[in-house]
Amino acid sequence: MDYFTLDQLDRINESHERPARFAVIGNPVAHSLSPQLHQPALDALEQNARYIRVEVEPGQVKEAFEKMHAVGIRGINVTVPHKLEAMAACHRVDPGALTMGAVNTIVFEESDDGEVKRTGFNTDGPGFTRAIREEFDIDLGSLRVLILGAGGGAGRAIATQCVLENCSQLILANRTVSKLTSMRAELSQLGNHESLEGPRDRIETIALDDPALEEALAASNLIVNTTSVGLKSIDPAPITTTWIQPHHLVYDTIYNPAKTRLLRDAESQGARIANGLSLLLHQGALSLEYWLGQDAPVEVMRGGLKEIL
Ligand code: ATR
Repeated sequence: MDYFTLDQLDRINESHERPARFAVIGNPVAHSLSPQLHQPALDALEQNARYIRVEVEPGQVKEAFEKMHAVGIRGINVTVPHKLEAMAACHRVDPGALTMGAVNTIVFEESDDGEVKRTGFNTDGPGFTRAIREEFDIDLGSLRVLILGAGGGAGRAIATQCVLENCSQLILANRTVSKLTSMRAELSQLGNHESLEGPRDRIETIALDDPALEEALAASNLIVNTTSVGLKSIDPAPITTTWIQPHHLVYDTIYNPAKTRLLRDAESQGARIANGLSLLLHQGALSLEYWLGQDAPVEVMRGGLKEIL
């Protein structure tokens, strides 16, 4: 079975030796690669646990968390469209996740009196830091970053992480530039902290079709695509790719197709490129670390992904 619905939760362990202990919720959820990422890791760590998919209707996330815990689920990943609703259904939210405005990882804790508390984390931001280190052998905090599609969920998580990492410049680009106004103010607030000396005065916003984007790109060294442009193999690149230069690092959060038009063009411009597989991998590894309190077998997880992609 590809996935369970809430009504089917009492049957998740029927004809299975190992109990379902971890799950991803989403809608649709059948396409989620999380089981292929997590099951090999759980097996390698000799956990007596299955990882399953659960389809949840909007408005039913809190109910889903309660029901899933009741049938033995001990850790949950959250994917589209539930990352906001999941945050509201937590008793506690990690401060980074709060600023990112979304959670993708739920940890359950049982207090002595048997009460179950849910804490929400967002591993997309920290996972991106690890992905950049792995792909380009450089610290995210040392880069001047431009995010294409910063008004979307992934863009916001990555932008927040750039502030937390003290990046020396952060340019937020979006098709609908008005979506960035409040976000820029919130990120400046976040950066307005003694330990954060990064981009607090250097967070800029720009429309994707603004001709000044050329200059903004030239002033940046990491370009990140978080728009959905590129998901279809016939999609164009979200920017004029002749503006990309050999000094650029170009990261596309899309991993299927493996090389979007943006990455193909960036490569022919002489830039270094990477796709979103490393982000998928590291955000997943971090979830597992939250649940199990131990290092994730990253190479095993990478193997799981390579097998299907
Ligand atoms: P979310 O991540 O919140 O679900 P989304 O609808 O998947 O959002 O869109 C993610 C990002 O892709 C957004 O920044 C969106 O731009 P808008 O805020 O202007 O909608 C961007 N995006 C989607 N289609 C696009 C297109 N054809 N050209 C440029 N940007 C696009």
